[in-house]
Amino acid sequence: MAVKAGSLPESPSEMRAAAMKHLWMHNRGWDELEEDEPIVATSGHGIRINDSEGRSWIDVNGGYMSVHIGYGRTEIARAVNKQMEQIHYFPQGTTSVPAVQLAAKLDQITPGDLTRSFFVSGGSEANETSVKIARAFYRRAGHAGRYKVISRKESYHGALGLTMWLGGSTTASGRADYEPAYPGMVYAPQPNPYRCEMGGESPDECAELCARAIEDLLLFHGPDTVAAVIAEPIAVPPAVAVPGDGYWPRLREICDEYGVILIADEVITGFGRTGKMFAVEHWNVVPDVMSVAKGIISSYLPLGASIAREGIANAFAGGPETKFFQHVLTFAGHPVPAAAALENIRIIEEEDLVENSARVGAYFLERLEELADRHSIIGNVSGLGLLLGIDLVSDTQEKTPFKADDKVGDHLTKAFHDRGLILKAAPSAITFGPPLCITRDEVDEIIQGVDQSIAQVTREMNL
Ligand SMILES: Cc1ncc(COP(=O)(O)O)c(C=O)c1O
Repeated sequence: MAVKAGSLPESPSEMRAAAMKHLWMHNRGWDELEEDEPIVATSGHGIRINDSEGRSWIDVNGGYMSVHIGYGRTEIARAVNKQMEQIHYFPQGTTSVPAVQLAAKLDQITPGDLTRSFFVSGGSEANETSVKIARAFYRRAGHAGRYKVISRKESYHGALGLTMWLGGSTTASGRADYEPAYPGMVYAPQPNPYRCEMGGESPDECAELCARAIEDLLLFHGPDTVAAVIAEPIAVPPAVAVPGDGYWPRLREICDEYGVILIADEVITGFGRTGKMFAVEHWNVVPDVMSVAKGIISSYLPLGASIAREGIANAFAGGPETKFFQHVLTFAGHPVPAAAALENIRIIEEEDLVENSARVGAYFLERLEELADRHSIIGNVSGLGLLLGIDLVSDTQEKTPFKADDKVGDHLTKAFHDRGLILKAAPSAITFGPPLCITRDEVDEIIQGVDQSIAQVTREMNL
């Protein structure tokens, strides 16, 4: 239905037509949408959203695993409004009350001496910033030759010029559009106990072999050429690969031994997602720099941060010897997201959402394991807290992953949609990261929809 010149779309049908014509959809081509899409969200509460056509959906992964406190928290709206009315923005080597308070709060809740925060607008920017900190740190320390960055295959660290070249799928074509690759990228194996590239037969053995592979890469390239190792405590793309317990402590030892900066990408795992405030706490490791986003603000506004240990940050204090960090972003340290994040963290703490993540996450894992007993296309189930995944395979013995051309993920996504679940299956995995306020009953509802959807697709596709 056409929209009159000068007017804006209002009715559901106008809205859909205008979206199809003008909106560059995120993460999907507009030709891939179903007849009744795009869903135009109008309100939300907890794990559910309502759309412009009056339908209700469960947003299983709370945005991009990023709506920790759930939808519809009016306290955040009030904090934002209050800050907007006081002062909406103040940059240029100055600051504001909420930015200072948020930096102090992050010092309190992060492990060890991660004391200083550089604020940005999201996870990719946080990682871009963390890597730039590592490189610039070594120039200040007189080691300009340290510029390479080791990341792990199948990790995801962002979509920007540098971050898109960190990690990455071994089969992905997504980066081909953007060749040539960013220089200085070195790739290590992913400590995925289900499919250990190094041949480890237990999580511990896989962890040890994959950590040793990082040491080998360091020695091969020469430690004096490497600035940083960047890793997510738990990588999501390989269907949530929880490494063996030895992995992170070994990474810490190796980075200490060769003087390399260890960057923990806690963009997805931070703020309670895995049942601890930060996932590195499962292994008592303090990284040198930590990237955060998503859960810091439950997606109420754009915000991320790169949080550095004191010794690293002090190299940028300024003065003739130690030049300040040449990394200016217009929205860095914006007071309004800072005020929202403070309120968000208050809610996470007051409502024990980290504890809820551990408790309800353990229940979710049990329920997924039951599904694995019933469905032959589930090869593996893994997870920690409310970060969970299942591997979809055509042969459980051989662990053969489905490929994009098999279309199993697409059919599952459609079956979820038909049951009111917003949940996108990858070709060979389904990952789960719901809001941390989820209840056991809501887990049951999701499990029922997933169970029925897998049964339907298995039957219809003769899998
Ligand atoms: C581990 C990790 N790092 C970085 C990013 C990029 O964050 P953003 O999409 O906010 O740029 C993501 C996004 O999903 C992520 O999962």
